[in-house]
Amino acid sequence: MSCTIVVGGFFGDEGKGKIVAHIAYHDRPSIISRGGVGPNAGHTVKAGEREYGIRMVPSGFVYPEARLCIGSGVLVDPRVFLREVEELGVADRIFIDKRCSIIEEEHIRKDRGDTHLAKTIGSTGTGCGPANVDRVMRVARQAKDVPELADFITDVALEVNEAINRGENVILEGTQGFGISLYFGTYPFVTSKDTSASQIAADNGVGPTRIDDVVVVFKAYPTRVGEGPFGTEMTREESHRLGIVEYGTVTHRERRIGVWDGEMARYSAMINGCTVGAITGIDHIDPDCFGVTTADRLSKKARDFIEQAEEDIGAPVGLISTGPDVSQIIDLRDEL
Ligand code: IMP
Ligand code: MG
Repeated sequence: MSCTIVVGGFFGDEGKGKIVAHIAYHDRPSIISRGGVGPNAGHTVKAGEREYGIRMVPSGFVYPEARLCIGSGVLVDPRVFLREVEELGVADRIFIDKRCSIIEEEHIRKDRGDTHLAKTIGSTGTGCGPANVDRVMRVARQAKDVPELADFITDVALEVNEAINRGENVILEGTQGFGISLYFGTYPFVTSKDTSASQIAADNGVGPTRIDDVVVVFKAYPTRVGEGPFGTEMTREESHRLGIVEYGTVTHRERRIGVWDGEMARYSAMINGCTVGAITGIDHIDPDCFGVTTADRLSKKARDFIEQAEEDIGAPVGLISTGPDVSQIIDLRDEL
C-alpha cells in the first residue's frame, strides 16, 4: 500500500494523465488528489469516444472508484470547476480543500491584459499568476468563501493522511512540468509556483516521510508551449517531418518539439527524488512499438533508448507508454 506522486519531468504535457489513469486501474487508490498551480494545466483525456480537455478535475477521474480531491495549494476557478464537474458527472465524488485560493474574473483580465505575462512570458491567460499574487498578498478569497462550492468543501489534507493511515493507496497528481517550476525552471519563463514532487506533496498537506514513490514522466520527444529556452528544440520542419504535431490543451498553441535531453532528465529526476521513471511516446522513437504491451516486443532501437534514459534518470524506467489509449502501456514496476 503506498502513496505515489506523479509529476512531469520536462516542460509539461508529458502524458501524466494517462500514466495516472493506468496506475489508478492497477493500484486501485481510494483517493486521487491533485496538486499543481491551477486551471492553467490541461490534460487531454480520452474516455470512450469522447476527448476531454480537463483543467481542474484530476485526470484520474477516468478511474471511477476513487474519491477525487483538489489540494489546498491549488488555485480554483469556480466556473471552470463547476462546468467540468457537470460535464464529467463526478459531482458525487469530487472535493475541494477549503483553503484553495480562488481565481476571479479580474485575475484572468490581468493575466491577458498584462504585456509582460501575456506576451513576454506567454502565460496561458487563465489568471493563475495574478491569483497567486493576491494569495501571497493575503487578499484572495478561499474556496470556503464561495457559496457555489459549498457542496464540495472538505479538508483534503486530513482525508489524504487518514487514507494513508488506513493503509489505502493514494495518488498525488502533479501538473505542469519540471522545466516551468518557479524555483528550478527557466526563470522568468516559468509558471507561478514550484512544480516538483515536494510541492505536490505540500499542495496536498502530505509530509515528505509519507511518500513511497515518485513517478517522473518524461516524453521521448519533449515539448514546450509558450516562450523560454528549450535546449534540445528542433525546427518546426524537422518535427513535422517526424510526424509530431501537437497543440496545447488550454491555449491551442502549437507545441514546440525537441529531442531527448539527458542532462535535464538527470537534474529533474534528482530534484523530484524520482524512484520510477515513466517514458511516454516511445512509438515516436520507433513506430513499430505502437500499442505494444510487453517489454519483449520492444524493438532494439526502443530498448536502447530506454537504457539510455535509465542511465540519464538514474532510476529504473517502470512504465513505458506506447500509444494514447490507457491500455497501450508496458508496466514493469512489479519487476523492479
Ligand atoms: P502561466 O502558468 O499561465 O502563468 O504560464 C506561464 C508559462 O507556463 C507559459 O509558458 C505556459 O505556456 C506554461 N504553462 C503553464 N501551465 C502549463 C501546462 O500545464 N503545460 C504546459 N505549459 C504550461
Ligand atoms: Mg497539458
